[in-house]
Amino acid sequence: MSKNQLLEFMDELDDSITDETEQPVGGARVSKKRQSGRREKDARLFVRAQEFAREFQFTYQAARFEEAWLLGALNEIAEHGWISDVLKKAKGGKEASVYLCKPGPAAVEAQFVAAKVYRPRTLRNLKNDQQYRDGRTDLDSEGNKIYKSAEVHAIAKRNTFGEALRHQSWIAHEFRAMENLFAAQADIPRPYARAGNVIVMDFVGDALGSAPTLNEVTLERSEARPLFERVMRNVEILLSHGYVHGDLSAYNILYWEGAAKLIDFPQAVSPKDNRNSFRIFARDVTRLCDYFAKQGVDSDPQRLARDLWAAHGFKPREDLHPRDLDPENAHDRQLWEQRGSA
Ligand SMILES: Nc1ncnc2c1ncn2[C@@H]1O[C@H](COP(=O)(O)OP(=O)(O)OP(=O)(O)O)[C@@H](O)[C@H]1O
Ligand SMILES: [Mg+2]
Repeated sequence: MSKNQLLEFMDELDDSITDETEQPVGGARVSKKRQSGRREKDARLFVRAQEFAREFQFTYQAARFEEAWLLGALNEIAEHGWISDVLKKAKGGKEASVYLCKPGPAAVEAQFVAAKVYRPRTLRNLKNDQQYRDGRTDLDSEGNKIYKSAEVHAIAKRNTFGEALRHQSWIAHEFRAMENLFAAQADIPRPYARAGNVIVMDFVGDALGSAPTLNEVTLERSEARPLFERVMRNVEILLSHGYVHGDLSAYNILYWEGAAKLIDFPQAVSPKDNRNSFRIFARDVTRLCDYFAKQGVDSDPQRLARDLWAAHGFKPREDLHPRDLDPENAHDRQLWEQRGSA
């Protein structure tokens, strides 16, 4: 099967999974013709799925089409020894599904690894990615910067080739950020490998499944403040290594054995190169402070964000040209008004 055929196949499978899982409630009518068309397609996909299944087998009993889709997605990382078995689906998100896997010989030191598998449909609809892409150089499937003008042009034009590159770049950015931040000793799962739509990393949790996200946890009073400080320390590590998470909140932090692990990095932006970076940063800090306020830790998020920003050598808002101030940020608005009246 050629690469193009494979991609087409994956897309069809993704559509079928969606058909299987997103049946309209109340049973919308499907015409006879459509039904028989669907059956034909199902049969064709089923045969191809069986071809894949001969190559790689796993314990997890996936739904009909999910299995074929997974086999296609995980083939390469299994071949390279990052995983040896898929034990269960830990989380089925809208954007990506995360599977609990047994590591292969290439990741022997891990007890379990997580395979984060992006759904092609999600990637096709990368919404709102523009604000995060600002100031970013796209990366190819090897994680190298894309400079060739034909490729840069295709990405800008959003033709089919360009969209494929854009998707690869989105995932390559997540993996690159994780590699850099793990090396910087941030509290994140150790990343192992990336192939196609999949990232393999340490699994946070146990054989039963993923650790809870922080928003599901009520902290002991005595642990809330130290954990807040630890998370803020991580925010600083990110900043000092050129990253603002961009979607940080208690939903993207896993809590396991008293420790926090930050996850979900594809949208991370550069504080230096992204023009909205301060707004995105202040939003991250505010969301974290909101969660910790509910756990009894008081803080002043706007002030904290500004102080951290300036402490890491980024331009304080006060020094910005008025056109670079952000009308959605309360502090910036205040500055704007002061200057306006001066
Ligand atoms: N390394 C990991 N170990 C264990 N569970 C994980 C790991 N990474 C992600 N998960 C689980 O999968 C979920 C989705 O992962 P992630 O946040 O990276 O993807 P996402 O595309 O943002 O999905 P969503 O839109 O649901 O947030 C997480 O909330 C978490 O429960
Ligand atoms: Mg998430």
